[in-house]
Amino acid sequence: MAKIMDGKLVSEYIRGKIKDEASALKTRNIVPGLAVILVGDDPASKIYVNNKKKACEQLGFYSEEHLLPADISQEDLMAIVQSLNVRSDINGILCQLPLPSHLDVAPVIEAINPLKDVDAFHPVNVGRIMTGDFKFLPCTPAGVMEMIEYYGINVDGKSCCVIGRSDIVGKPMSMLMLHKNATVTICHSHTKNLKEICRAADIIVAAIGHPRFVTADMVKPGAVVIDVGINRLETGKICGDVDFDNVEPIASYITPVPGGVGPMTITMLMKNTLTAAKIQNLLDK
Ligand code: GUN
Repeated sequence: MAKIMDGKLVSEYIRGKIKDEASALKTRNIVPGLAVILVGDDPASKIYVNNKKKACEQLGFYSEEHLLPADISQEDLMAIVQSLNVRSDINGILCQLPLPSHLDVAPVIEAINPLKDVDAFHPVNVGRIMTGDFKFLPCTPAGVMEMIEYYGINVDGKSCCVIGRSDIVGKPMSMLMLHKNATVTICHSHTKNLKEICRAADIIVAAIGHPRFVTADMVKPGAVVIDVGINRLETGKICGDVDFDNVEPIASYITPVPGGVGPMTITMLMKNTLTAAKIQNLLDK
């Protein structure tokens, strides 16, 4: 029987600390401000954007949304980013992805001032993650690390298997584990002996995007299993990348889906926005 790592609980704990810091900033007339850009009307993106707005309200942050038409030009979108870069009341800028296919994502991300890049997608911030000298971390890997710390899981010297090599999760996740002195193996769709590598791991982070990809025979008894997947089944039910029902009895710790890593991501966005406000008001390095 594994201990369940409760993302809602950890999220509430961290939001409490963020709220206290935001209240302290308010006495200096500083209110963290987040601008979210949403191009088009993808229903899933709309839900994410709305949840970000609610989180800002809960923590006493200022937030604004820029809901832009699906056919906006690259130039007009870049101009909006530039206008947000120069505003002192906006500390964080997030452009919700994916963008419509006629738009080029990289120049948009690179147009964001790295000090306002609360997604940590800008190449400057990506580079800082490599060296370990970072100000912002991408929200999902940051959320995983917070959960590992909250539950007192020791990463030092452990073998860690990260399944998935995306820029947003797999790659930065691997770096953060490496900074904590884990021996990290990154597996992906071309990995030949994925099952064996996974089964040898003390810590597994599944970020593949395939429902129930990690089965019980791939998990060493007592391993820590972190599930980053959010997959919608045909039944409408949400499920992770791990076969939870069969893996849970053999793992030592496991994150459920929903209620595991998911709730942490917006909390980490709020943490980054708070950090951005402190840096821009010269209260942090
Ligand atoms: N779309 C899905 N997840 C994310 C995220 O973390 N940041 C942004 N900007 N877009 C997303």
